[in-house]
Amino acid sequence: DDLYAVVGNPISHSKSPKIHSLFASQTGEAVDYTAIQAPEDGFRETVSEFFARGGKGLNVTVPFKEQAWAMADRRAARAEKAGAANTLYRDSDGQLVADNTDGQGLVSDLTANHGLDLAGLNILVLGAGGAVRGVLGPILSRRPARLVIANRTVAKADALVALFADEAGDTELAACGFEQPTQPFDLIINGTSASLKGDLPPLAPSVIGSDTVVYDMMYSATTTTFNQWALDQGASRAIDGLGMLVEQAAESFRIWRGVSPQTDAVIKTLRE
Ligand code: ATR
Repeated sequence: DDLYAVVGNPISHSKSPKIHSLFASQTGEAVDYTAIQAPEDGFRETVSEFFARGGKGLNVTVPFKEQAWAMADRRAARAEKAGAANTLYRDSDGQLVADNTDGQGLVSDLTANHGLDLAGLNILVLGAGGAVRGVLGPILSRRPARLVIANRTVAKADALVALFADEAGDTELAACGFEQPTQPFDLIINGTSASLKGDLPPLAPSVIGSDTVVYDMMYSATTTTFNQWALDQGASRAIDGLGMLVEQAAESFRIWRGVSPQTDAVIKTLRE
């Protein structure tokens, strides 16, 4: 079997080995996918050693996505602006290529799995860290009418608006603090790490209307703190990030194997 792995620190709770082994059995691809914990200061060595022993491809997770991006010889266009990579492989010339499938994973989950057409929507994105930077390009490519980035540290949201201005096209792109927006949005995407600590961004309840859909890039066995808040304010639907996790994995699998796994059954299995 061809060898693949996910690298992170910590890594023991990663669902990626399970997801990729489900993809492998479903498609009949000869894929052996494991999890590797790299030392905090030893990511590059771990990657070099993996490819030196014949490894075919890596997924990269916290806290190494920026280092994966930096160490690549070449980057896919969609990974360039993301400033982070979750997928590494060697091309036919032996060059280390970095890609980022997180944004495509989010957009696939929203559109294909949940039936949302982002074109013309009024979207609020919460957070301005690495996770948000990684998904802005693919969201903007779907041509929402307006995309507002709200963050605790407004300067970081401002910086993302400046960075992605050339990809905005007709989309109105703006930055602000959490308290500022008061009108309802069609879609609110939580990309802060606040919910990991059970914290809520201090949004005005009026950003949630009866047609508002919320999406938390986090997932958990129970409804996330943010999604529960939004439902309590009357949101029409609350979606967590499990589908995004499976879709970004599917996109990596496609890059490595040239085969598209079916994601719906895998999402269902993980839900159980
Ligand atoms: P990630 O890779 O998860 O994006 P990050 O780059 O450290 O990690 O970014 C974390 C994001 O969550 C940031 O937008 C951060 O806000 P600041 O830029 O103001 O630091 C946001 N965040 C983290 N904890 C938060 C909290 N308790 N309340 C609100 N926002 C929070």
